[in-house]
Amino acid sequence: RPQWRGVIDEYRELLDLPAGVPAVTLREGGTPLVRSGWLSGLTGAEVWLKVEGNNPTGSFKDRGMTAAISVAKHEGARAVVCASTGNTSASMAAYAANCGLTPLVLVPEGKIAAGKMAQAIMHGAQVLMVRGNFDDCLTLARQLAESYPVALVNSVNPARLEGQKTAAFEIVDFLGDAPDVHVLPVGNAGNISAYWLGYTQYAAAGHATRRPVMRGFQAAGAAPLVNGAPVADPETKATAIRIGNPASWKLAVAAAEESGGRFRAVTDDQILSAQRELARRDGVFVEPASATGVAGLLDDLDRGESYAGLTVAVTVTGHGLKDTVTALEGLGDVVDSVVDADVADVARAAGLA
Ligand code: F0G
Repeated sequence: RPQWRGVIDEYRELLDLPAGVPAVTLREGGTPLVRSGWLSGLTGAEVWLKVEGNNPTGSFKDRGMTAAISVAKHEGARAVVCASTGNTSASMAAYAANCGLTPLVLVPEGKIAAGKMAQAIMHGAQVLMVRGNFDDCLTLARQLAESYPVALVNSVNPARLEGQKTAAFEIVDFLGDAPDVHVLPVGNAGNISAYWLGYTQYAAAGHATRRPVMRGFQAAGAAPLVNGAPVADPETKATAIRIGNPASWKLAVAAAEESGGRFRAVTDDQILSAQRELARRDGVFVEPASATGVAGLLDDLDRGESYAGLTVAVTVTGHGLKDTVTALEGLGDVVDSVVDADVADVARAAGLA
């Protein structure tokens, strides 16, 4: 069986990219759709997790980055820049390294998970920590790209959404049709916009008979799309979605409206609890922001909303190993036991004897 080629070459004829652009790829995409026994049992629905942490740099960003970096390289760029809450920068740095572009990263000071920072640095990015939030970083990145020889690869770059929409294709390819409902976290709002683009295009091409209802969830302290207004000082432990003024605002609102969906907010406690439960019950370890969709689904159930009988896709956007500090913080006083190298001692400590 041939190796999965990465999202550009798997879906090239469906992507609006320059004809024949060579793919800069780390074989992203082709991620597992894992049935959640836990969530299916709770909801009476068939709940499928699209596990995007299985991408090469551990998040869904790789789908868009293969496209944005391929185009930048093709068009002769030498350097690339992004603003990021961590995952975009990790992804950009890896793809830039792969094709010899110079990566420049702007991140909010002190608000990036250690794993993501390590990735950007290891792949050779120059990382500048900005005294400001993500929204400030994005403004700066746009200004840099306007005035200096550096290409912007945030999701305002249309190639990004072209790549990211392939996740919707994969879900339809596997399920045989679109799900009834698609649930996912929303930060800068590129991903929900890309999914809607993908579902719409795939249905129009005859690969699906319908499009799902899109339900986006934000962290309560960073929920501009729920409030209907930008948030000046977004705050959440789910640092990946600590964003107050999403760039793809209009596209995301259109996705929710056209699909009969909506945005809702969940608290950090709900997010961290969903992250823990998902790890313990389904064996899927995701980063905090990535559990926001699961938290939203659970919150909907608490509000008496029914998912019974439906097929539900939930995107879990990034790997749990990105941010082990936040994950373990939430556990309180879990103590590791130290034992002698003695079987009786081990058995006693393990509660077997
Ligand atoms: N989940 C994770 C793990 C993310 O890293 C992001 C965004 C999102 C969800 C939200 O997706 O922005 O398309 O609505 N991270 C960006 C970054 C902002 O810089 O890595 P979105």
